[in-house]
Amino acid sequence: MERRKVLRLFLVSSVAAMVAPKLAFGQKPFDQKLDFSSLDFGPDFKWGVATAAYQIEGAHNLDGKSASIWDTFSHEKGNIKTGENGDIACDFYHSYEKDLDLLKSLNMTVFRFSISWSRVLPNGVGLPNQKGLDFYHRVIDACLERGIEPWVTLYHWDLPQVLQDKGGWMNRESVAWFSEYAELVTKTYALKVKNWMVFNEPSAFTALGYLIGYHAPGLKGFKNYLPTVHHVCLCQAEGGRIIRRNVDDANIGTTFSCSHVDVLKSEKRDGKSAERWDVLLNRLFVEAALGLGYPIDSFPILKKMQKYIQPGDIANLKFDFDFIGVQNYTREVVKGMGIIPVMKGLEIKPVKRNVEEVTEMGWEVYPEGIYKIIKQFAAYEGVKKIIVTENGCAFPDDLVNGQVHDSKRIDYYQRYLKQVLRAKKEGVNIGGYFSWTLLDNFEWSEGYKPRFGLVYVDFKTQKRYLKDSALWFREFLADKK
Ligand code: FCB
Repeated sequence: MERRKVLRLFLVSSVAAMVAPKLAFGQKPFDQKLDFSSLDFGPDFKWGVATAAYQIEGAHNLDGKSASIWDTFSHEKGNIKTGENGDIACDFYHSYEKDLDLLKSLNMTVFRFSISWSRVLPNGVGLPNQKGLDFYHRVIDACLERGIEPWVTLYHWDLPQVLQDKGGWMNRESVAWFSEYAELVTKTYALKVKNWMVFNEPSAFTALGYLIGYHAPGLKGFKNYLPTVHHVCLCQAEGGRIIRRNVDDANIGTTFSCSHVDVLKSEKRDGKSAERWDVLLNRLFVEAALGLGYPIDSFPILKKMQKYIQPGDIANLKFDFDFIGVQNYTREVVKGMGIIPVMKGLEIKPVKRNVEEVTEMGWEVYPEGIYKIIKQFAAYEGVKKIIVTENGCAFPDDLVNGQVHDSKRIDYYQRYLKQVLRAKKEGVNIGGYFSWTLLDNFEWSEGYKPRFGLVYVDFKTQKRYLKDSALWFREFLADKK
């Protein structure tokens, strides 16, 4: 079962699906005429892809890297649907040059990637691993040589296992550990990297990893979740301050997984659940960063966080980010009583709903959702700029004679981009759009089955093949050159 469904089962409702029609055989997917072009997004708009260390690098124990929670979790039987792990993944550790050539060939100029904490600090803190630091120097240099901007995420879910052994994010010392790691990384790459993101999707890794146990480190319950949320929020702001101190002219953001929330039937019946779901999914972390505190009134269980909050903490949650990374894939539809399972930790049965199109992840294709969530985030006074730091989709892909005719993926991108442009035209300051993702890769608890890449990866041979969607992006962005 995919991750949103598991979380939803735990909390609220679910979807049933019908699949969208295919393009006729032989029809070129980009024959379709678009009523917009990449130029409409403006000359300074950034186009790129997003990736994450554990999902692509492989080399899980090479050159001094220690295990992260994802190494441990994926090696434990039963945690990954397909029984796979990220030991080799896309072998990006060795193939980064060729992969960046591919990215460049798509006319994209941003490569968003994350640093593996356990590669550069195998003990979590203390002595840095020079070979690990050198790897990211090589990746960054390879970007710069190709005219690609490196955009670095400090943390995309792979906490060193040695730190998890001491309680991980549940331990307040995590603020000191993370600060030490952030100091090291930002000082090391300050001259070469100007674009930084502190976290990838804190609402996802805290809830999936510490509330429902579907992701690493596989822990369940509010007693794990609530201290984790608070410590991650402290680190979110502290990370921003550390980047500001160490990197001249830095462009600093952090990213949020966010989805527009709709009620199943009526506001009156389902509204309360929708409000609470909105808190968990969309509001909790951004509001902390904006200095609005925790939305306790909208979700009373958060009162229990009080226990972990020390004097001065609330003021320290705030950081003035230069941009907010919006990551959107779908929307959520919720029904009433969702909060009962949240409070008691019980599961409820999914509600059937007719959904026209879903991706392989079971996520509804709902292009207007990205428009709505961008507007929701832009409505906060302190949000100065939005970058879509992830958006994309998994569909089953067939490699035939070296080609992948992924027309559904092209259709998805075109419709979502149109909605991003709609928000931009209405005046939202949107500075860029990064596709998730360059390569098919290790999709966490789903293994390698869902393919999100613009580039098809044959995991047996590690060969890469540009899908039609990659070719479409290349053509769409050609005007920009
Ligand atoms: C996002 C994650 C990313 C990837 C995509 C499909 O939530 O940030 O690592 O798994 O979903």
